[in-house]
Amino acid sequence: MSTTPAGTAYSDAARDHLWMHFTRHSVFEDPGNGGLGQSVPIITRGQGHRIWDSNGKEYIDGLAGLFVVNAGHGRTEIAEAMARQASELAFFPLWSYAHPRAIELAERLAAGAPGDLNRVFFTTGGGEAVETAWKLAKQYFKLTGKPTKHKVISRSIAYHGTPQGALSITGIPGAKEMFEPLVPGAFKVPNTNIYRAPEHLRDDEKAFGRWAADRIAEAIEFEGPETVAAVFLEPV
Ligand SMILES: Cc1ncc(COP(=O)(O)O)c(C=O)c1O
Repeated sequence: MSTTPAGTAYSDAARDHLWMHFTRHSVFEDPGNGGLGQSVPIITRGQGHRIWDSNGKEYIDGLAGLFVVNAGHGRTEIAEAMARQASELAFFPLWSYAHPRAIELAERLAAGAPGDLNRVFFTTGGGEAVETAWKLAKQYFKLTGKPTKHKVISRSIAYHGTPQGALSITGIPGAKEMFEPLVPGAFKVPNTNIYRAPEHLRDDEKAFGRWAADRIAEAIEFEGPETVAAVFLEPV
């Protein structure tokens, strides 16, 4: 691979200017600088579920980006649709105005949603969606005469994102400690990983499931049902 437009080797520019998410940067620093001198791995292309790095090494993109290229890489029909849309209308916020693609997608999602769920609020990602869901629950109870319902219950170990509200709901202490105090009112119940279940429940999935569900009921009762606005049931 050649150099960046500024004439720098890509791995050097990545090491010096890119602040990567969930990444220990010290391994990329020179040993003289206290690092390990490793090169930043650079993914340059993808096709279907396969991706290749700048050295030509092939990988399986098992995470599908971060669950955002579930249809696979290199799909020309998607690229063409994106190009058509960008030349027709590059972007428009859904603030008082709508646009055709948002309307079409909302209608399609509503048709597939369970029960009487029929309205879609678009966000830019998972963490923002989690924040929004908690805010919606709080607002709903404020507007319906139950203003003390503001707490949220989620599972230990479960990951819900990095913004302050979503991080409060996230159940990974190590991911939170540098940013505390976070948004108050987030409580945790045990995770549903049976491998870590109490010993007497490890061989009985149903009993473990009932036990885990009972912990949610217990937390709601302990905190006070009149104070709990939402329960997030993501296990991981
Ligand atoms: C269950 C769950 N919630 C929220 C998030 C956060 O999503 P995002 O990274 O798009 O903010 C993730 C991301 O992995 C997730 O797995």
